Amino acid sequence: MTVTKEQVLAALARVPSPGGTALPDARVLSDVVVSDGKVFFSLTVDAATVKAWEPVREAAEKAVRSIPGVQSALVALTAERSPGSATPESRPAAPQARQAAHPTDKVQPGIPGVDAVVAVASGKGGVGKSTTAVNLALGLRDLGMKVGMLDADIYGPSLPKLLAIKEKPETIGGTRLKPIQRYGLTVMSIGFLIDEETPMIWRGPMVMSAITQMLREVEWGKLDIMVVDMPPGTGDAQLTMAQQVPLKGAVIVSTPQDLALIDARRGVSMFKRVNVPVLGIVENMSYFLCPSCGTRSDIFAHGGARHEAERLGVPFLGEVPLHMTIREKSDAGLPVVATAPDSEHARIYRDIASKVLAQLKGGAGGKAAPKIVIEA
Ligand SMILES: Nc1ncnc2c1ncn2[C@@H]1O[C@H](COP(=O)(O)OP(=O)(O)OP(=O)(O)O)[C@@H](O)[C@H]1O
Ligand SMILES: [Mg+2]
Repeated sequence: MTVTKEQVLAALARVPSPGGTALPDARVLSDVVVSDGKVFFSLTVDAATVKAWEPVREAAEKAVRSIPGVQSALVALTAERSPGSATPESRPAAPQARQAAHPTDKVQPGIPGVDAVVAVASGKGGVGKSTTAVNLALGLRDLGMKVGMLDADIYGPSLPKLLAIKEKPETIGGTRLKPIQRYGLTVMSIGFLIDEETPMIWRGPMVMSAITQMLREVEWGKLDIMVVDMPPGTGDAQLTMAQQVPLKGAVIVSTPQDLALIDARRGVSMFKRVNVPVLGIVENMSYFLCPSCGTRSDIFAHGGARHEAERLGVPFLGEVPLHMTIREKSDAGLPVVATAPDSEHARIYRDIASKVLAQLKGGAGGKAAPKIVIEA
């Protein structure tokens, strides 16, 4: 029995969005891919409304699965957070940010014991930056590096979930914090310290001091590389953060669509403005890999990020497919590189990690290379 796109849309018409509009009319639907009884599409929503959309995503999957002939349905919810939209409180930092973005930048002191700090950033939210950051960190770990992770996304910390960390860090001597160890990574996130329900408005003024504290008042120990999961966007808040953290380089994550690429371009220029070398661009959700039959479909114009990297003269680090396993494992706190090390996905992330490492060792952008030695 052949399932058609029209049947899928008809089923979705019975699923209301949080505002009450039928899903196909809510302007959130991507193209609907139907291949061999497998249905895939995504919903792109405002990050502030993600919680309200999760039940809709589930209802949409259920509605599609109930169509005769449908074997499986994957509905991805991707969040769009307009740059700086959640961060009005950080606006006062802007003049300082601009000042320091001048070529005569004051260089941030390094973090004792940490050889290289690498930011994972995206111009736009919901592109899979945190997922990439975690798997990149694990890939670097597999290359023999001692790796730490700092969750700098104060407004939407992801590491507690992506690494399934529920415990609170202990204090050492009443002033310093002991990071959490998970999958061989040394991890710190504001999410370990504040309640998820803490209103955003309280977080605003805390942002910079929280970042500074997490960098300087945490016993990171000896690390070859610290991977920083940055907040999405390229607004003043992100610019300030890019300056506050003593970065050796930045990895930009983008999805292949034109709009995301425009944001990725902004990300690249933001780091260039603050003299941080861009180590490369990763194309996430590059193509859709059917979980059951392995068929590949380029639902978005795949390859856009590679092309953009070439245009911008920055390295292209790799393509990560859109795959159910990546999402399920990531959201369950079981990142693929740690829990399915022999999978093709893990291989892709390790390959990206080795390119990042090569960039760091080569002293990307002409900056001093960190003292990194790969253990045999
Ligand atoms: N390659 C992939 N295949 C399938 N799902 C993915 C992939 N990458 C990320 N996802 C899923 O997409 C969602 C968003 O990913 P993630 O939280 O990593 O994005 P983000 O860019 O960090 O978002 P934010 O801007 O909110 O911080 C998650 O549910 C994640 O599991
Ligand atoms: Mg994130």
